[in-house]
Amino acid sequence: MDDIIKQLQPSDFSKCAALWNMKKQPALAEHFYSDLCSGNRITWIYERDGALCGEISLVFDMKDEDYTIPQRRAYVSHLVVKKDCRRQGIGKKLLAYLTEQAKLLALKELTIGVDLDNYPALKLYTVAGFDRVLLIDEDKQGQYIKLMKTL
Ligand SMILES: CC(C)(COP(=O)(O)OP(=O)(O)OC[C@H]1O[C@@H](n2cnc3c(N)ncnc32)[C@H](O)[C@@H]1OP(=O)(O)O)[C@@H](O)C(=O)NCCC(=O)NCCS
Repeated sequence: MDDIIKQLQPSDFSKCAALWNMKKQPALAEHFYSDLCSGNRITWIYERDGALCGEISLVFDMKDEDYTIPQRRAYVSHLVVKKDCRRQGIGKKLLAYLTEQAKLLALKELTIGVDLDNYPALKLYTVAGFDRVLLIDEDKQGQYIKLMKTL
């Protein structure tokens, strides 16, 4: 198997439709693309034998001081692994890769927001060192938690 993680170029954005339904979430897709183009978002994709299996992003400005502080704290966004590729360590590898890139960018902290009923993601993040709770709250989607990891 030939596995590779690489940065997604804005011109390849439509590739991510293999991972999530952009047509069902047009506002998210538009915002995502605009952030990619402006540089507010860096996205890395995981390919196995040329097929897209997962993605993860780093966002620098979330317009929320819990999540982002310029040059110091950035937000881990939209980690998705294709259903038939899950539980093979891909999510963990994408998160580890993003963490190394964040260190190279001299960031000091990473944050994440997770729904409290998303056990797989909560487990992945806590095992990866997201051990500081910034907030537990509720929105239209239900209860969620803001977590932070010091780099
Ligand atoms: C969360 C998600 C990204 C995990 O990706 P993955 O590639 O399956 O995760 P990994 O195989 O790297 O798992 C790493 C660790 O996370 C935990 N984990 C992942 N999936 C799990 C599950 N279904 N149940 C329990 N623990 C799980 C385990 O600790 C696992 O280590 P282990 O396999 O040695 O036990 C994937 O389930 C997904 O895409 N979910 C839908 C999108 C989503 O919820 N994203 C997170 C938004 S905050």
